[in-house]
Amino acid sequence: MGLGSHPVRVLYTAAQIENRITFLSAEIARTIAPDTLVISLLRGSFIFTADLIRALHTQGIRPRVDFMSLSSYGAGTESSGTITVDRDLKVDVAGQDVLIVDDILETGRTLDFACSRARERGASVIRTAVLLDKPGKRAIHIQADFVGFTIPDHFVVGYGLDYGNYYRELPYIGALEMG
Ligand code: IMP
Ligand code: MG
Repeated sequence: MGLGSHPVRVLYTAAQIENRITFLSAEIARTIAPDTLVISLLRGSFIFTADLIRALHTQGIRPRVDFMSLSSYGAGTESSGTITVDRDLKVDVAGQDVLIVDDILETGRTLDFACSRARERGASVIRTAVLLDKPGKRAIHIQADFVGFTIPDHFVVGYGLDYGNYYRELPYIGALEMG
């Protein structure tokens, strides 16, 4: 079976995701500075970031945005444990308040790596937001400040999340049925 042709069982519909992000953005806006620098971790968080920053705009936040592309997966469904920087930050984060945004927190290595890098570069306040949290797979002791949904140990796709770079376009989040 091709990587992109497995059945997907819907966990969160587009409407449920939108609703959760509306509430989450209000919670985040109460905490962060209005000119916070959003650091979006590519590639998985591009759709979440796009929706989150527009929801934050509605809450009066005027963020700047940068991207960092990190990989730990290769093409499979298990984290390799080593983080590779495919694209580094372009904005100088020294003295900045930053909000690091990722699609999903699993082992914690990716978010931990991104936080360390922001800290090394002198960010003054570092906060983290993830759409999904899979606490059952944690290898590093780290929690996100803001979490959309907490999920069991399923491999999930859609809404930016991929399997072998497929399924990112799905407007919903679903569990991949590997059979
Ligand atoms: P961590 O470093 O193990 O916390 O994994 C975080 C990264 O692995 C995320 O940024 C995702 O890109 C990817 N990832 C983890 N779990 C899943 C999943 O269930 N589906 C798709 N990608 C995942
Ligand atoms: Mg990712």
